[in-house]
Amino acid sequence: MHPDVKEILLTAEQIRALVAGMAERIAADYRDREPVLVGVLDGAVVFLADLMRALPIPVRVDFVKWSSYADGSSSSGEVQLLKDLSFSVEGRHVLVVEDIVDTGLTLRYLMENMETREVASLAVAALLDKPSRRKVAVKLDYVGFEVPDEFVVGYGLDYAQRYRNLPYVAVLKPEIYRAA
Ligand code: IMP
Repeated sequence: MHPDVKEILLTAEQIRALVAGMAERIAADYRDREPVLVGVLDGAVVFLADLMRALPIPVRVDFVKWSSYADGSSSSGEVQLLKDLSFSVEGRHVLVVEDIVDTGLTLRYLMENMETREVASLAVAALLDKPSRRKVAVKLDYVGFEVPDEFVVGYGLDYAQRYRNLPYVAVLKPEIYRAA
């Protein structure tokens, strides 16, 4: 275990099982449609990489990047589009792939933005859900795991750009959050 980690919430094995289960549900729901997986950078890259390989159906993949967080653990509330999709999703079945839904603000902006592009359908797959912190209501179609009101890292999720490479989802020791 990484020395900065206080507690592992989801082991690599548990994540594998969650992703496999979610991929099965998505594959069944999209058996007659070819979804465009829209990964939300940067946090969703690890989840998206595993999810797409677990899907036995044809998919397209694209990415968007929003800025909502400063280099810390609290939301500034400001959301800007830093990187847009590389191809048109008009008439396509978009499945947004998020690492974690916290206040819901990022996802709400993204959903509103996607709805303006005349997509055929729009759904969301989030690995982690932190409902205790929600500020705006968002509908999540596929959720892997509900986390308590704690700032988590690993499996793509960062704290001040670090810890994304941990293969598990964990909570850091309090002194690490205080030190930044
Ligand atoms: P929201 O707009 O508050 O829902 O925040 C969504 C984004 O904030 C996620 O895509 C993450 O990048 C980041 N985020 C929210 N909670 C956490 C956390 O516990 N750890 C790491 N990143 C988080």
